[in-house]
Amino acid sequence: MELFEVYPLYNVTPVKAKGVYVWDENDTKYLDFYGGHGVISIGHSHPDYVKSLSEQLTKIGFYSNSIVNPLQQELAHKLGKLSGCENYNLFLCNSGAEANENALKLASFETGKSRIISFDNAFHGRTSAAVAVTDNPSINAPINLQQKVTFLPLNDIELVIHEIGKGDVAAVIIEGIQGVGGLDEGTAEFFQEFQKECNENNILLILDEVQSGYGRSGKFFAFQYHNIQPDIITMAKGMGNGFPIGGVLIADKIKAKYGMLGTTFGGNHLACAAGISVLDVMEKEHLMQNVQEVYGYFLQEIKTVPKIKKVKGKGLMLGVEFDFEVGDLRKKLIFDQHIFTGGSNNKNLLRILPPLSAKKEHIDLFINALKEILG
Ligand SMILES: Cc1ncc(COP(=O)(O)O)c(C=O)c1O
Repeated sequence: MELFEVYPLYNVTPVKAKGVYVWDENDTKYLDFYGGHGVISIGHSHPDYVKSLSEQLTKIGFYSNSIVNPLQQELAHKLGKLSGCENYNLFLCNSGAEANENALKLASFETGKSRIISFDNAFHGRTSAAVAVTDNPSINAPINLQQKVTFLPLNDIELVIHEIGKGDVAAVIIEGIQGVGGLDEGTAEFFQEFQKECNENNILLILDEVQSGYGRSGKFFAFQYHNIQPDIITMAKGMGNGFPIGGVLIADKIKAKYGMLGTTFGGNHLACAAGISVLDVMEKEHLMQNVQEVYGYFLQEIKTVPKIKKVKGKGLMLGVEFDFEVGDLRKKLIFDQHIFTGGSNNKNLLRILPPLSAKKEHIDLFINALKEILG
């Protein structure tokens, strides 16, 4: 059997990883400034994480959601405390798309409506409703086009108010900071204004923090820069540092009913052990503070690199925009300088998502590599 080839690949085969580095089968060391799509939060193979998962596996790795699993409560309590979102309830699942799928379904159940407002360049996943609210027709199959979705430009509140006025909108879904789209984001004023409109019109506000959450922006969630309180918050990537786990934070006013949501694998023992370990390390190593410090240093140092048009994003969710396409630059970074970076819908933008434990010395390596390539 061969693989169903849906990914264009870089010809690199990582076999080992530690902290912010990965090694290939020839023992070549790479600086990981992409974290496998922003997944590596506390650093590859963190010793506390390895210990916690290994120990959990020797006890019990999995049982379904028909029994009591105290690890789920422990994860919820720790998450509430560290994120400052203690007045939400947690539903556990396995990925970002699944988190958004559940969030959209919940909003539709709760409001009795079905149209969703999403934004230009949004990415929310590849499954049914999640891909329908993703602004990319090429990854939507005919079956996905049954959903009622309206895409609007970011930061145009008048258009949002106009659509909301039609009375059939169940939810507005928006990323804290756009990831795949290219690091654009709503202004605080825009977030606050449409939250007000949502509250007044029985519409739920879903914040997709799958990529921008879990400390990546320097705050636990990127929306926390804007003084708003979403009804539903979705998360995944950094949550398990590579172990597949996703979650939906649901405002207390939304009441659970048996059967409303469900999953076989979500919230299993091993996933919870991964999630708890990530939160413990984030707290112990002050990773959100580290992100803010390293971000400040990045902003200062990136000014010394030629040919840069703009820096977008926050914390360690950053986009460096040039006035040329970055495909070749990314190849030179990976094959000549041994640094992993990412791309986005904006072909002129280099996307970097290092582990939250990256230090100033790693920023120096990245900056020096850019200077060497760009002259
Ligand atoms: C903002 C956002 N939402 C949802 C997803 C989908 O997550 P997953 O690939 O875990 O389904 C992604 C993945 O890149 C994302 O960036």
